[in-house]
Amino acid sequence: MTAAAAAEPAEPLAQPLVHAVNVTKSFHHNEVLKGIDLDVDRGQVVCLLGPSGSGKTTFLRCINQLETIDGGRIWVDGDLMGYVDRDGKLYRLKNKEIAAQRREIGMVFQRFNLFPHKTAIENVAEAPIQVRGESRKPARARAQELLDRVGLGDRCTSYPAQLSGGQQQRVAIARALAMQPKLMLFDEPTSALDPELVGEVLAVMRELAEDGMTMIVVTHEMEFAREVADTVVFMDGGVVVESGPPRDVLGNPQHQRTKTFLTRLRSAHEHP
Ligand SMILES: Nc1ncnc2c1ncn2[C@@H]1O[C@H](COP(=O)(O)OP(=O)(O)O)[C@@H](O)[C@H]1O
Ligand SMILES: [Mg+2]
Repeated sequence: MTAAAAAEPAEPLAQPLVHAVNVTKSFHHNEVLKGIDLDVDRGQVVCLLGPSGSGKTTFLRCINQLETIDGGRIWVDGDLMGYVDRDGKLYRLKNKEIAAQRREIGMVFQRFNLFPHKTAIENVAEAPIQVRGESRKPARARAQELLDRVGLGDRCTSYPAQLSGGQQQRVAIARALAMQPKLMLFDEPTSALDPELVGEVLAVMRELAEDGMTMIVVTHEMEFAREVADTVVFMDGGVVVESGPPRDVLGNPQHQRTKTFLTRLRSAHEHP
């Protein structure tokens, strides 16, 4: 590299959107996260997998500050989540500031968590109107666009109970997108669905990925991980056991724990 090139300012896009360093979290004496490192570049999809109890949900909740971390640091788009760093000392942000950080992150859960007494379009427009103070008309117009995008443009006035689980989950995705998040977190978004409804939700997620959304997806859908993920992270017992491109982690795992997990997953898939 020439001296002139070295003096160029750092490429802003070179900084990962999510940068988590040595994240630890305990519940009472149960250390659930034992030093998790994770970088997610802009526009990348990370699939997080691992056995039940390995800390996947807790880690997503830490990124989104539904849990406070005990140690380590998490940055999203350069913002230190939950804290301000003054001369190396961390001070907790005010609730209002934390809420503002959380608004930048969309989360989709296993259970759809829609408001049961609101229609699909009202569910999607709710946060922009209530939280961001947008006026009703443009918020609803954008909600309509988002419902179109997830293939539910004709179900705007349906209530959650009138929709299938797959449709409800697509509304939940549209609702998260309505806040124009920088990052989307998915926690086993298809695990509660009947098998025939899984595909329509994964298709929406795949399109979102193709449109350049940065995503962290906890899933056991191997085909999705293989085809959509840039990086697969295998967690077990609160640590990252291995991570890398899907063809390595899924196709040629290096660790016995990963091999055992994948073998179990495949046999569960073949003999449900
Ligand atoms: N709010 C909580 N209070 C106490 N223990 C918890 C809480 N949330 C999760 N845990 C524990 O943390 C561990 C990891 O859970 P979780 O993050 O849900 O794992 P995963 O999503 O990989 O199945 C489990 O042992 C679970 O019982
Ligand atoms: Mg979980």
